[in-house]
Amino acid sequence: MSKSFKTFLKHTAKDFHNQSVNPPVVRASTIIFKSMKHIRNTQAKAKKNPIGGHYDYGRQGTSTTHILQKILTKLEESYHVFTTPTGFGAVFLAIFSVTRPGDEIIVADPVYSPTRLLTEKFLSEFNIKTIFYNPSDLKTLEKNITKKTKLIFVENPGSNSFEFQDLGKIISIAKRKKILTAIDNTWGTPYFLKPIKLGFDMAIVSATKYYSGHSDVMGGSLAVNKKVFSKVYNAERITGLRLGPDDAYLITRGLRTLDVRLDRHRENAKKVAAFLSKNKKFKLLYPYKKDSYNFRMWKKYYSGASGLMGLKIKSKNVNSVRKFVNSLKLFGYGYSWGGFESLALHQEFRETGKRKYLNLTNDEHLVRLHIGLEDPNDLIADIRQALRHLK
Ligand SMILES: Cc1ncc(COP(=O)(O)O)c(C=O)c1O
Repeated sequence: MSKSFKTFLKHTAKDFHNQSVNPPVVRASTIIFKSMKHIRNTQAKAKKNPIGGHYDYGRQGTSTTHILQKILTKLEESYHVFTTPTGFGAVFLAIFSVTRPGDEIIVADPVYSPTRLLTEKFLSEFNIKTIFYNPSDLKTLEKNITKKTKLIFVENPGSNSFEFQDLGKIISIAKRKKILTAIDNTWGTPYFLKPIKLGFDMAIVSATKYYSGHSDVMGGSLAVNKKVFSKVYNAERITGLRLGPDDAYLITRGLRTLDVRLDRHRENAKKVAAFLSKNKKFKLLYPYKKDSYNFRMWKKYYSGASGLMGLKIKSKNVNSVRKFVNSLKLFGYGYSWGGFESLALHQEFRETGKRKYLNLTNDEHLVRLHIGLEDPNDLIADIRQALRHLK
């Protein structure tokens, strides 16, 4: 991340017209014009330049959503970024834009469990077949490609199990076979990984997480290259999957400090990971172990790591795992992550989904920790006292 981008985030989108340092929230269903000629002129401009912010109806957006899209397009180094009401809306939009009945898609086995449900269960009702591949063995991806394969859907790292994949290899397979690619990049965000530059056609981020950063707003973004732009543009118009101006405003405000927060999440997580990595009762799921495949794949593609990590605990005593998690005092219990605060979850079956390649035995348990912006020494002390319960 260049210094200039950090500066850009602080200086962009000032509103000298209203003399406010942040742009105003422009709410509109009706966009009002001076004349019919003015409407037609705007429509002609929109046709010529669909990403220029020429709107004739509020469902297309207002200046508030346009500003956010422009900032995100710069951050992603992409052709355009669509913004959606939730991160999952962006997952849906990516898949819906490029697949049709009769197609097949190949999906990383450890995707976010609602993405698994969408592809495996819901899309099958529309005659779109899903095949899952093993993130640690890309032969399972390549061998399942058929003439019907339209899309490879990646999530990196794997949800809850944190496998890092060889992204460059996936892109080269896809390009050779002329298949489109999408990645859920919520963990890294384009601050640490720029998927469109790497060669992906689409990149999803749940803006609910680090973009907003304060656990009080939902949103999603879908970055695209020029190749898929029209398909996504048409799908977005037909589904009406667009972020509202109030949420766009809050996300733009959050982005001002994205770099500062993510740098601090990374530093805090590194300190906590150094402490956790010494404990023999579990395997730390975070890129820290220099000789591991996961670390190499992370290092190869990412410029940093965020605050979300996992523990794979081996214990015959599940109650002691529960007790460990429940004894944390500075970690809240709740879904989502990417806010300023630390969170913990004991992952039951519901969160990991019925995976093909996860292979957890009955005495293996997953715990997810989001390392927030608190003093890392306090977090370490808290984890240390809670670990006394783990048997
Ligand atoms: C990796 C990942 N992708 C997508 C989503 C969905 O985002 P949202 O909750 O904003 O719909 C989540 C939510 O937890 C997630 O963890």
